[in-house]
Amino acid sequence: MNIFVPLAYYHDGIVNGYNKDTAPIFMPNTVGGYMPGPRDFPGNKAFPSNAQTIVKALEHGYVVVSAGLRGRTIKDGNGKFVGKAPAFLVDMKAAIRYVRHNRHLIPGNTDRIITNGTSAGGATSAATGTSGNASFFEKYLQQIGAADESDAIFAASCYCPIHNLENADSAYEWEFNGINDWTRTTMTGEKDSSGMPIFKNISGQLTSEEQANSKLLKQNFSSYLNNLNLTDETGNKLSLNDDGSGSFLNYVEKFIKESAQKALDSGKKVTADQGIKVDSDNVVKDIDWEKYLNFITRMKSVPAFDDLDMKNPEPNLFGDGNEDSKHFTNFSQDKSHVVSNLADQTIIKGINPLTYINDKTSQTAKYWRIRHGGSDRDTSFAIPVILTTLLRNAGYQVDFAMPWGTPHSGDYDLRDLFTWIDKIC
Ligand code: DHB
Repeated sequence: MNIFVPLAYYHDGIVNGYNKDTAPIFMPNTVGGYMPGPRDFPGNKAFPSNAQTIVKALEHGYVVVSAGLRGRTIKDGNGKFVGKAPAFLVDMKAAIRYVRHNRHLIPGNTDRIITNGTSAGGATSAATGTSGNASFFEKYLQQIGAADESDAIFAASCYCPIHNLENADSAYEWEFNGINDWTRTTMTGEKDSSGMPIFKNISGQLTSEEQANSKLLKQNFSSYLNNLNLTDETGNKLSLNDDGSGSFLNYVEKFIKESAQKALDSGKKVTADQGIKVDSDNVVKDIDWEKYLNFITRMKSVPAFDDLDMKNPEPNLFGDGNEDSKHFTNFSQDKSHVVSNLADQTIIKGINPLTYINDKTSQTAKYWRIRHGGSDRDTSFAIPVILTTLLRNAGYQVDFAMPWGTPHSGDYDLRDLFTWIDKIC
């Protein structure tokens, strides 16, 4: 764990209105792809790193704590995997407990701990935010000798959180069914001269088996969504018909329309071939959903997460000490192309941030800031919208938006993120 403190706080100084006792404690992580997320530092030139985020947060007066979190590929000295789920969350919580245990030694206000992360790191932030002191983690925390302290936090900042994994496949087909071409970049496994991974473009078409599975998965999504009993801001029920249409779809479209309007208002171009109908006064009139999805394109084949060959990051996350990968949906276990086992249900549920939102035995952060790019195809738009809506319906405050034209990425609006933090603090 690395701990960084604005130097002024050691001289009774004030930065941006904060002092050594009142400064928020900002905890960004470097988790991506559910890989190990090493502790980070200003000037870090290695991958992965969010060094600039740390520098900017320090300049803004926050105490920054960057903890190293285990990931799905880490082995111990005996070759046993030790970073499978839920290790990334156990380590995050252990770090929070450590900071709290040492609150009289470390500057910053432990009642103002705010986590931050992108993608799998966004999921880390989200699950940390919902599951304060949840009993599921207790035995794992004791195993690694974590301090006996609260791991509840004040607020969570989540960029495109890749979470709710056991429902992400059906959510993806609810969105992309009917689009049979996929295209994405992938790591080649090689690195450039500065140590950054090299990516290449790959693309393909869904096989007839994948197209059939897409249809089945899409059908499963409506009943899942309807069972959540979500409501919008005015209490109207959000639901889906068997064909995937309905008020929940309209609700998702509304966020994209708002995003397009904001882009227009700031002088960006939004056009009909992107699926957005704009009138002569630069007001967004409507969205052609199919056209919009064809504009952003499908990224993943079917199933998008729990793939039948278990080559994706997610089955690999659900392996255990001896077994590298496991399926985490009955759908993929039943249809698997490889010899496979199903992961433990308590672990699948245990790392899903949604599990804890209405659970009175754990503490959920009061404040949330969730961003999911309007061009993000790594998971369905339904996934962040469900997280946002469940939190709001349970009475938590969520600042949510889908920035226009923004792909799967994070920390692109630190000024706004810090304004939000200053406001809630
Ligand atoms: C990440 C992206 C993915 O598409 C995914 O399935 C898992 C993790 C990431 O960038 O962290």
